[in-house]
Amino acid sequence: MNEPILLHGGDYNPEQWLDHPEVLEQDVQLMQKAHVNSVSVGIFSWAKLEPEENVYDLDWLGEIIDRLWAHGVGVILATPSGARPNWMAQRYPEVLRVNAKRERSLFGGRENHCLTSPVYRDKVRKMDQILAKRFGKHPAVRYWHISNEFNGECHCPLCQASFRQWLQAKYGSLEALNEAWYTTFWSHTYTDWSQVESPSPLGESGLQGLLLDWRRFVSWQTIDFYRFERDAIREILPEALCTTNLMDHFDGFDHWAMAKEMDIISWDSYPEWHNPRETEEQTALRTAFVHDIYYSMKDKPFLLMESTPSNTNWQAVSRPKEPGMHMLSSLLALAEGADSVMYFQWRRSRGAMEKIHGGVVGPDCQADNRVFLETAAVGKALQDLTFIAGEKRPKQAAIILDYNNKWVLDASQGPRNCGLGYWEEMHRHYDGLRHNGYSVDFLPPKGDLSAYPLVIVPMLYLMDDATIQNLRDYVQNGGHLVVSAWSGIADEQDQLRQGDTPYGLTDLLGLRVTETVALWDGEQVSCTSCTEDLSDTEGAILCDVPALEGAETLLQYSSAFFAGTPAITKNRFGKGTAWFAATRFPAPFYKTLYQTICRDSGMAAIWQHPIPEGVLVSYRGPYVFLQNWNRTAVSLETGKGTLELHGWGTAVLEQDGAVRYVSEPFPFPLTAGKPAAEK
Ligand code: GAL
Repeated sequence: MNEPILLHGGDYNPEQWLDHPEVLEQDVQLMQKAHVNSVSVGIFSWAKLEPEENVYDLDWLGEIIDRLWAHGVGVILATPSGARPNWMAQRYPEVLRVNAKRERSLFGGRENHCLTSPVYRDKVRKMDQILAKRFGKHPAVRYWHISNEFNGECHCPLCQASFRQWLQAKYGSLEALNEAWYTTFWSHTYTDWSQVESPSPLGESGLQGLLLDWRRFVSWQTIDFYRFERDAIREILPEALCTTNLMDHFDGFDHWAMAKEMDIISWDSYPEWHNPRETEEQTALRTAFVHDIYYSMKDKPFLLMESTPSNTNWQAVSRPKEPGMHMLSSLLALAEGADSVMYFQWRRSRGAMEKIHGGVVGPDCQADNRVFLETAAVGKALQDLTFIAGEKRPKQAAIILDYNNKWVLDASQGPRNCGLGYWEEMHRHYDGLRHNGYSVDFLPPKGDLSAYPLVIVPMLYLMDDATIQNLRDYVQNGGHLVVSAWSGIADEQDQLRQGDTPYGLTDLLGLRVTETVALWDGEQVSCTSCTEDLSDTEGAILCDVPALEGAETLLQYSSAFFAGTPAITKNRFGKGTAWFAATRFPAPFYKTLYQTICRDSGMAAIWQHPIPEGVLVSYRGPYVFLQNWNRTAVSLETGKGTLELHGWGTAVLEQDGAVRYVSEPFPFPLTAGKPAAEK
């Protein structure tokens, strides 16, 4: 029943209200008022679904789903494996996780089970199949929500055995493993498989090969668990569409590999709106970046599975969204490729840990407060914007994102143990491109680059041979590539490449890096422009010091002992061009840098009109989203005249400038005028 609509709704926990039938009845009435068409149910319901071992009670959930469906609300049905019942932990302690210090946890919390435990897997499979048999064919069920925010690792004996098996399959022999992990160092050679243990602060923590393979194993194991649940459902329902909710910049598993197993991507977005560190536009760009990662995972629209309609309760300061921000941030998700706006949570809990977390419905149960009215207005907007559903995004620039690279940078000793800032490096390039109005996708290192006029390779320290070849082929065939500092240093086992750096790319870049200078936080090196296009600036964090072998210098260092060496270069290679950015520049500099690079690479802008400061442009199919992140109105040239867009306003236009939708401002206090939803 997945017709092209935009989903609106969120996590719904009726199991917390089964003794209050009037509340459950009120819920569906309020959902209709809020234009809710989908809710996620069952996420943490295991103790109600199986109150005692092998005693199942699904009737309450059946009644809930029937009632929802009778009121036009579809369901994203969850498997409850994110939190297990108390009886299970008591009877089968093996389901409880063991930490890196080899301590087993007590019962409590959630998403903290052992992913190997055969008992846990049996229980989960049985539960998932019972749910699939009972509800799989119900017309309300749109998707399956597998578990909840997979994360973490377990170091129990079962996981150690599984790790060793995984290593045996990967390396075949202990000799090969010793070589890959470079265990001659400090005499750490393994002479028997039983000596191999996961990393621990009490034991081995200095073999980067072990650290990297452990993270790869945990990634494989997490994805294997997802697959295990998905396949349990698919045995009963071959057509079931499955997802699991991913988290922000979380890197606990390789999301590219996980994405292959998912039918649709979904993620949970909780930006810290109105924080004192940055402007709302900067928060928006940080959020758009993650939306774009999740769009790119399958190169298709995703679901925003959770967001808050108002405030969270777990941030340092859980500040509510100010009037208008809920609409603006929800439409940002849509602009970047979401086909839904969903919340944690529909109704606030009465007790326990999340009772202060915002919900669409609060303890007052009223439909006339600000949060409810703004939520209802978003629901209405999604109805008006149904034409966006399923629309794809154009391919312009792509950034290479590699989780293995993130893991080795995290584990690395030097050159800066106070942080290399892999994400930050990506964010700077991303923001520079977005400030010039370009759409940005993400790709895995061996992904197909051919559709993208411009590809960015930020801090890709780890490069296997296939990645190097992929980048070479791309530029050879006419692609435009930007490589940044600390790239091409190590192979896939995190062993240093023996040869010139960036390894395999020196002819492509027309230079070799002779050394890398790490800077202290706050320290800067001056840079002087050698072209009219760029301005003088500074370098920070790391300075690669290149020696030219054919490239042209666009910017050079002008302080420190390496003054006079290049900081930005450009080189023709094959039919394409490669730039090298040897250090990290201040954020605003990337706007100018990408003005130059995009112009030189001939990448046409889709939106040809001036983009005022604080306005973000995004594209879906033939539509252009213009979002004004300023609190004050801006004038936008559209090609068909001038559009006055209110502070925190969103306009959706066709590419020729025809206006399809403009949001309405939210007055506050409410008595100053009726909010949009009630007009
Ligand atoms: C998410 C989680 C939800 C809820 C929410 C609160 O990470 O999936 O269950 O806890 O955070 O913001």
